[in-house]
Formats: sequence, structure tokens, C-alpha cells
Amino acid sequence: MAVQRVLVCGGAGYIGAHTAKALHMAGREPIVFDNMSTGKDYAVRWGPLVKGDIRDAEALRAVIRQYKPDTVMNFAARIEVGEGERDPGAFYDNNVSGVLNLLRTVVAEGVPNFVFSSTCAIYGNPERLPLTEDLPKNPVSVYGRTKLVCEQMLEDFSRAYGLRFAALRYFNAAGADIEGNIGQDYAEFAHLIPNALLAAIGRTGPMKLFGNDYPTKDGTCVRDFIHVTDLAEAHVLAADKVAATGESLQLNLGTGHGLTVMEVLQAIERATGRPVPYTLFPRRAGDAVALYADTTRVTQTLGWKPHLSDIDTICSSAWNFHKKSWGIAQAAE
Ligand SMILES: NC(=O)c1ccc[n+]([C@@H]2O[C@H](COP(=O)([O-])OP(=O)(O)OC[C@H]3O[C@@H](n4cnc5c(N)ncnc54)[C@H](O)[C@@H]3O)[C@@H](O)[C@H]2O)c1
Repeated sequence: MAVQRVLVCGGAGYIGAHTAKALHMAGREPIVFDNMSTGKDYAVRWGPLVKGDIRDAEALRAVIRQYKPDTVMNFAARIEVGEGERDPGAFYDNNVSGVLNLLRTVVAEGVPNFVFSSTCAIYGNPERLPLTEDLPKNPVSVYGRTKLVCEQMLEDFSRAYGLRFAALRYFNAAGADIEGNIGQDYAEFAHLIPNALLAAIGRTGPMKLFGNDYPTKDGTCVRDFIHVTDLAEAHVLAADKVAATGESLQLNLGTGHGLTVMEVLQAIERATGRPVPYTLFPRRAGDAVALYADTTRVTQTLGWKPHLSDIDTICSSAWNFHKKSWGIAQAAE
């Protein structure tokens, strides 16, 4: 059974907007609900935008009653890890109270399917690699803990109220829509690739590189970069699977391959034709040496395989989007 009408909470943001597009491309109807704290109006192109906050039960009830979605996807969250350490209250308020409010409304209004943006940060420093879904969950950040609490709420709501859900644990979302109209915008500059692009074009000083003495092939951390469109497409498949089987899912979404930070910087240099200047800083507390997904479960469950996630496609699509959005198309040629 395919889902049809999907309320995309946080759909004006980076991953939510790409998912709204993937839903539209698959013939579904995305309705975006977003408080626009980091979302962008221009990124909502594939269905209506309703401005509102997931902590506002009345606004949620109204949008669900108006559009009658069969599925709710939640991307809405505060995501900058350092901010979470400085202001945990704001993180628990948005990421936990917001999701609790959303889940209660979804159950009360009888929406059967729920898809949740989780993260590999719920695992913390893994005891073995690649990361399988059953590994212990020991998040080392406030951000990771807020997401783990949400996954636990999902399990409890599923047991008690029959909610069926997919919790999708993303690794590092990266890149931009191949047509170049949406991508990772200014708000997300804590992320490696936009940061490296800014450094490459001289808009900022050298980027900060945290640690080159890790036990990896070039001393920098290893992460699993997944193209945002591959990620978006997995949401459509996961929602359909949950709707068809009535069973809930917890799935890692990564490529299964780790790349060092230095390898990513080299790919940025290939994409832009410019060097990426950087300044070396000591390791950051809490940064794991290496994180990459075991993709066996997602491949077997959804038949999903990434097709845009090689690092050169990721970096060239991000560069293409940023050239347009920074108005430097000519200057950068
Ligand atoms: N970017 C990544 O690599 C990554 C990795 C793992 C998990 N995630 C998760 O994916 C989701 C989306 O991340 P993103 O990178 O697209 O971030 P983003 O900041 O671009 O998108 C979040 C969207 O949610 C909206 N929002 C925030 N709080 C809201 C609220 N209370 N009510 C309504 N709307 C609200 C924002 O305005 C924004 O449009 C988040 O839940 C994040 O934790 C992201």
C-alpha cells in the first residue's frame, strides 16, 4: 500500500525539502508544516506551506483536519550539536516536547503512519564498526540524547496506541538536489561541506579542522556521507513499507563506506578547482574516530540503495547549489 498525503513537519529545511520533492516525484502530496526557524520559503515548491510549530497542538490539529494526511514525517528539530551543549533546555523543548506534542496529536487524530528523522548520534562512540541497528545506544551529546528519547517515545506509543513508525537514523546528509534549486543553506554552516566551500571561495577564513591524530589513514575522522536525495527517496520507501506491513522500522541510512575528512576536502577541491585552506585545532570532545553504517537491514527491508552518494557527486551538487544561492555563478566559473 502506498502512502498518499504526507504532512512534512520541518519540510522547509534541508532534508525535509528534498523529501517533499521526492514525495512529489513519486506522485504523492506533501504538505509542509514549518515554523521557519531555519526553513526557507523558496524551498517549499511541491505543495502547500502551513506556517506553525510542532509544539502548538491547536495548529497541528487544524492542519491535520484540513489536509487529512495518511502519514506524518517529522524533520523539525534543533540540530546544531554545540548549541545543544550550551542550551539543553531549548533542545529538549523543541526536539522532545515538540515530538511528544506531535505524537499525541497524530494518535488523537488517527493518522496511521509516522516517519521520524533520527540520527547515528544515538549510538555515541560505537564498540564496533560498521554500525548495526542493534548496537548499544549511548549518545554523547544533548542532541543525540533528545533523538534517543524520541525513539523510545515512538516505541512506547507503538505498543500502547498501535502507532506504526519508521525511525530513520541518518549518517551525514550531504550534497544538494541535482537540479540545484534546493540545498544546505546558510543556517547549517556547522556542517563540513558548506564550511569547506566557503573556505575554498574565500568567504570565510580557513576552515577549522579538528584533529589530525586519529588512528585513521590520514589522521582525520571518518564519516559516512549520504546524498540528501538518496536519503529523501528512502523516506518514501519507508513510509510505504510501514503502511503496507503495519510493522515499525528502525533503520540506519548511510552508504556503508567511511571517508576521512581529508578525503572530503580533496573532493571539494576537485569540484571547485580551488584549494580548501584550513587551520588545525585539537580534537573536539565527543567526536568519534569513525562512524559508518551497516546497510544490510535497510537494503533487505526497503530494497534501497544510494545512487548519488559518491563523494564527487555530493560535492559537485553542493557546489552547484551554493554557486547559485551565493550569486557567484559567473565569478566562480
Ligand atoms: N543534516 C544532517 O546531516 C542530519 C543527520 C542526522 C539527523 N538529522 C535530522 O534531520 C532533521 C532535518 O535536519 P536538517 O539538516 O534538514 O535541518 P534544518 O534545520 O534544515 O531543518 C529543520 C526544519 O525544521 C523546522 N523546525 C525546527 N523546529 C520546528 C518546530 N518546533 N516546529 C516546526 N518546524 C520546526 C526548521 O524551520 C527547518 O525548516 C532533523 O531532525 C535532524 O535532527 C540531520
